[in-house]
Amino acid sequence: MTKDRRLEVLSIEPFNAQPPLRELLAAPVTPTPLFFARNHAPIPRLDEASHLLSVDGMVRRPLALRPGDLRANFPAVEITATLQCAGNRRDELIRVRPIPGETPWGPSALSTATWRGTPLAAVLEAAGVLDGAAHVAFLGRDQVEKEGRRFGFGGSIPLERALQPDVLLAWEMNGEPLAAEHGFPLRALVPGWIGARSVKWLGEVVVQREPSDNWYQQRAYKVFPTHVDKESADWASGLMLGELGLTSVIGDPADGQELATGEVAVRGYAMAGGSRTVERVEVTADHGASWTVAELGEGGAGAWRLWEARLSLDHGAHELACRAWDSSAMTQPEDVAGVWNFKGYMNTAWHRVRVWAA
Ligand code: MTE
Repeated sequence: MTKDRRLEVLSIEPFNAQPPLRELLAAPVTPTPLFFARNHAPIPRLDEASHLLSVDGMVRRPLALRPGDLRANFPAVEITATLQCAGNRRDELIRVRPIPGETPWGPSALSTATWRGTPLAAVLEAAGVLDGAAHVAFLGRDQVEKEGRRFGFGGSIPLERALQPDVLLAWEMNGEPLAAEHGFPLRALVPGWIGARSVKWLGEVVVQREPSDNWYQQRAYKVFPTHVDKESADWASGLMLGELGLTSVIGDPADGQELATGEVAVRGYAMAGGSRTVERVEVTADHGASWTVAELGEGGAGAWRLWEARLSLDHGAHELACRAWDSSAMTQPEDVAGVWNFKGYMNTAWHRVRVWAA
């Protein structure tokens, strides 16, 4: 598959690219060529016929399955889910204080697709999980080079999450076999969790007592307090990321745009983490003194909701900001500086754009 030329390529090797925000908001399900791509290593070109997924560790019956075995011998389900990188909206954090060495993602390091695959729970049931197991680790067939070692990208989720029916071993995206960029022939899909746990080119599933010891579980994708930097970080003390936070973004109008005075349509997306859903989105043009409630599009747990609000703007400069509320009645923090962390993850602060009405 060829990726869309409109993608903004942040790095060629590894291939990291994000869609323009306005194009992303054009449809509730993102066309695959526009879907953001996040990689830590060169994209492996795997052969479906010879690809084997091993299911091992604390199980009664270790399994070795081809993607075809999954399709033939297990139930298949289809779900619409949004993948969001933990580094989504890092560019706003970088404006607070530089974050060297991390990809400067804007607000479109997320995309939504309809996925088809086998519930991981069905495969774990066939393997027979042993007592005492608490985590399920995933390992990809790509080869990352880090600190003089070569290893596959990996990570884990708690067993409790792995047994929920929306966690998939996915082989299809938007009605087509997965593209190489998105994990062909098989990837994990963990809706509502940071994208890093949806391991692509999935080769191993290991049931174990502890979280994965992979670099991307133990070192990357951890959040540290605002005062901690790379040099002073005690890696064991970082908060291991799992469920996404609640976020929302204004995509239209764009930052810096000129508008006609009077009623304007403000459009964007909102995404809740874990099994929570987006229940309300509000927009302010007066720094939070008053809010306009947006109309929400469709979207259940694990999927974003597009939204639109109508505001009236007088002549002059305005700052528009949005915030979402989720099904646990949580909302987003106002201040981006307050969520700054040196790895630049989980920017959940109000999203702001400045516009000029004339
Ligand atoms: N899986 C493997 N094997 N290698 C990777 O580099 N990147 C992860 C995840 N799975 C990655 C991976 C990250 S950080 C994200 S955000 C998602 O894949 C991105 O998925 P996409 O490229 O299909 O959008």
